[in-house]
Amino acid sequence: MEDKKKAPGIYEDVLNPALNERVKKTAEELRALAAQDREAFWAEMSKNISWYKEWNKIFDDSKAPYYKWFLDGKLNACYNCIDRHLSSWRRNKAAIIFEGELGDSRVLTYQDLYREVNKLANVLKGLGVKRGDVVAIYSQMIPEAVIAMLACTRIGALHSVVFGGFSATALQERINDSKSKVLITADGGYRRGKTVPMKENADKALADNGCPSIEKVIVVKRTGQDVPMEPGRDLWYSELMEEAELHCEPEVMDAEDPLFLLYSSGTTGKPKGILHTVGGYLVGVHTTFKYIFDYQEEDVYWCTADIGWITGHSYLVYGPLLNGATSVIFEGAPDFPAQDRYWRIVEKYGVNIFYTAPTVIRMLMRWGEQWPASRDLSSLRLLASVGEPINPEAWMWFYKHIGRERCPIMDTWWQSETGMILVTPLPGDTYLRPGAASWSFPGVEADVFNEKGEPVKPGEEGFLVVTKPWPAMLRTLYNDEERYLSTYWQQFKGAYLSGDGAKRDEDNLIWVTGRIDDVINVSGHRIGTAEIESSLIEHKAVAEAAVIGKKHELKGQAISAFVTLRDGFDGSDELIAELKQLVVSKIGALARPEDIYFTSELPKTRSGKIMRRLLRDIAEGKVLGDTTTLMDPAVINSIKKQYG
Ligand code: WT7
Repeated sequence: MEDKKKAPGIYEDVLNPALNERVKKTAEELRALAAQDREAFWAEMSKNISWYKEWNKIFDDSKAPYYKWFLDGKLNACYNCIDRHLSSWRRNKAAIIFEGELGDSRVLTYQDLYREVNKLANVLKGLGVKRGDVVAIYSQMIPEAVIAMLACTRIGALHSVVFGGFSATALQERINDSKSKVLITADGGYRRGKTVPMKENADKALADNGCPSIEKVIVVKRTGQDVPMEPGRDLWYSELMEEAELHCEPEVMDAEDPLFLLYSSGTTGKPKGILHTVGGYLVGVHTTFKYIFDYQEEDVYWCTADIGWITGHSYLVYGPLLNGATSVIFEGAPDFPAQDRYWRIVEKYGVNIFYTAPTVIRMLMRWGEQWPASRDLSSLRLLASVGEPINPEAWMWFYKHIGRERCPIMDTWWQSETGMILVTPLPGDTYLRPGAASWSFPGVEADVFNEKGEPVKPGEEGFLVVTKPWPAMLRTLYNDEERYLSTYWQQFKGAYLSGDGAKRDEDNLIWVTGRIDDVINVSGHRIGTAEIESSLIEHKAVAEAAVIGKKHELKGQAISAFVTLRDGFDGSDELIAELKQLVVSKIGALARPEDIYFTSELPKTRSGKIMRRLLRDIAEGKVLGDTTTLMDPAVINSIKKQYG
């Protein structure tokens, strides 16, 4: 990469202000090693993980696309995250700094984490949880949620974390698909000065034998709100922990044994249970955390993601702990009690590395630069972004007002399925391009394909794909092999289809443009249009529904629903409110439609497929694309009239 020395400005390159010989050398060495021999690169990286027994074959593609990594290697994730740090001074190092919404703070050293995780692992064993069983975790952001994840991995059980903002119905669906045996939850959580009814939601999910696989429910006391405890089923976390034994031998796992399940939205109504395995995931996440964030031993790292999403798994729990890092975990929201909550936390703990999402940055922009300006942010050294494309304006604001033109920004592209970051700049890059995720991480081969499956030329757009398997890739979709094959591997032979669109700019850098399938990205949260549509049609007034994501200044995309009503029903404001509430109760507040339009018909192709693309163009006020395949072109005019 040649040196670029242009003045900083939107859409132009920005000099990497933190560039130094150390990071430059690291980037060059990593890229050189990977370019020379991709497998040797990952073999080298695997040495940073502790193995009970080393693997004897790095990679197997004989049953593609069921790829395997680090064959016959034996290891334990929890051992790697905790135990191996205990033999050095790190045992007294803070692993987790928890900042509660009430202003309460708790520090857990590696030794503390070891003790808590071992005890909980013994509790789970005592409740009959065995290797291969699934434990559901439904919680807000509290240290116990992390302890629970690690306790599962210690005994070889899979965790299935369900985002705390999901509704009872969504929780029930995820528990039943995974046949979770135990549910770990809390009485409640704090958010914006209110309590969130976690146990109440869990009870709703479990009521009337709604989740027959669940044998026990472990309840963490966080808010102290009154919650009914069902005798024989519900147990208090604190009581179980009081009696628990202090040591639990980690289970020796095979590299290809499952590590966890994480449900994510796809293009059909049913969420996908993404399955990750132990060896490849740990190697991928360890490596990317270390090099993309330029993590140094004395750093304080803060990722604002929730553990309910993959970012929380890979870069709040596993990545930092595998590296023996200190991370901040925060509960609540960025604007409560005031809009400087983040900057108070950065100042309070001297945060060096800060990883957040574009939607948050745009919100912070709107609140104004006086908030960060009044806090000491001089500890910050590196910034990073994830979740959706970052618009160059937001990038520049982040760079100027948070990084104060001293910190490079890593725009990291990846997905629940990829497990680890795949496309990103490196801290050692000589220049940064605002808005571009830029380059494949060393050892990763991301590319942009045209419809024929050929790499596009500079300046062209296409499908974002990955042409070579990578260690932390998903291994399958739980209970749904067919969908694993058809979703990711059908369109282009041998290449992983991400579902995102991307372009190559004139210098061949990758710019991710967003989802090109029926998935919406609202504030960095991924929601399938089909899930929202199937919630809407449960209402007695609704005949058909089509949901689209339209451009939104803060959220990236906002949900718009087009609904046709059954005979005898009229579209009214009350009905709109009812329908929005229905979606919230079926999925969660994150899926609440921004607007709902009633229409007499939906645009369909002759084969009866709803043309969401046209609806999106109408909603965004764009010139309509090709309408020749429409069954009845008149429908469009009638929708436009109602819309306007
Ligand atoms: C989708 C994956 C991976 C962590 C958070 C979301 C979008 C993610 C970027 C980025 C442009 C991005 C994509 C992707 N996305 N990071 N840096 N630039 N888009 O995980 O819920 O699995 O969603 O988030 O559309 O497919 P997820």
